[in-house]
Amino acid sequence: MVRNIALITGVTGQDGSYLADLLLSKGYEVHGVVRRSSSFNTRRLEHLYHDRHAGGRPLTLHYGDVADGNCLARIIREVRPTEIYNLAAQSHVRVSFDQPTYTADVTALGTLRLLEALRDVQDACGDTIRFYQASSSEMYGKVVEIPQKETTPFHPRSPYGVAKTYAHWITVNYRESYGLHASCGILFNHESPRRGETFVTRKITRAATRIKLGLQDTLFLGNIDAKRDWGFAGDYVEAMWLMLQQEEPDDYVVSTDETHTVREFCEKTFAQVGLDCDDFIKIDPRYFRPAEVDLLLGDSTKARTKLGWKPRVSFNQLVEMMVESDLVLAEQEKLLRGEGHAMVLVND
Ligand code: NAP
Ligand code: GDD
Repeated sequence: MVRNIALITGVTGQDGSYLADLLLSKGYEVHGVVRRSSSFNTRRLEHLYHDRHAGGRPLTLHYGDVADGNCLARIIREVRPTEIYNLAAQSHVRVSFDQPTYTADVTALGTLRLLEALRDVQDACGDTIRFYQASSSEMYGKVVEIPQKETTPFHPRSPYGVAKTYAHWITVNYRESYGLHASCGILFNHESPRRGETFVTRKITRAATRIKLGLQDTLFLGNIDAKRDWGFAGDYVEAMWLMLQQEEPDDYVVSTDETHTVREFCEKTFAQVGLDCDDFIKIDPRYFRPAEVDLLLGDSTKARTKLGWKPRVSFNQLVEMMVESDLVLAEQEKLLRGEGHAMVLVND
């Protein structure tokens, strides 16, 4: 019988939760690494917990951290996965300028620790474990080519981008040195209703819906001229899985091949709730970065041809989906406020 056992680091994040949904729907036994936290950090997995009680397949969580190589080896030995998806990272670009050393330790060295643990267990147990590395379009940084494809040279512009570039190359190096089935997905920005609230798209959809319901009056932003190739996270996790189903490991760009400014994202979002964004946006220098990535635009021809992958959700549909979901949250918040409960305001 074929064993399909997946281990996901970063399972509590946006992509980890969508990937867990996908793999469970495909009949995988799914395990996730979760960091100990003083408050619950499994909010994005709650629906799976409820599914489990309704007879769905189980998701097993293991306490661990990519800063701790010993625990990674122990988890891999216990789980004996057939596929590992390394999604764990300090993933916020702006924060990486404030915490460069920590970002390097988790995002860059964390990948090396995981690869070393995989290699040790693979050698000791004779298993073959396929490996996915979450590489990023942020590695292209100050782009030397438009659009960006697998062969475009990297010029990272942030400590996060530099850390991801290390993680990318160490994965390629381990593939070439030790024959690992290790693939890197160079994913362009992808968003969803589960996106962290401090990334720009979610910050905008949260703000517009809260403004609409009278819960907030201003949206403070940084560089609204930046251009990004934004897709839907649910589509992108499918590409991750497809990479590990290939006979040969390889690296792939995953993108929509369309680019939009942050301003356009604001205009569409506010228009959807019947407002004009110019009435509410204030530019705050706090949100500018010491070095910016001005333009990202992918060329995903290779993923489309070799993996048979393509994005299903358009830019407009993505905005609509996020606004609809945040409207519900804003309505709940308003209701709670009416009942005298305090809520945490998110505007970072
Ligand atoms: P995310 O929502 O920020 O999730 C990051 C995950 O990593 C969370 O589960 C987080 O745990 C976990 N994590 C952080 N530090 C860790 C540590 N020391 N040990 C173990 N786990 C740790 O990010 P995402 O948007 O899902 O992205 C997933 C991956 O793809 C990341 O590596 C990101 O850099 C990369 N990526 C993302 C995009 C994008 O546009 N979303 C594009 C390209 C690449 P907590 O929940 O406890 O914080
Ligand atoms: N977060 C944020 N907050 N960004 C802002 C703001 C603001 O108030 N105002 C303008 N921006 C601009 C940023 O300067 C950047 O140019 C753009 O909006 C997108 O910012 P983020 O949503 O934070 O994403 P990112 O592109 O820096 O990084 C994301 O995408 C990468 C892939 O290219 C993250 O998900 C990374 O983890 C990922 O690797």
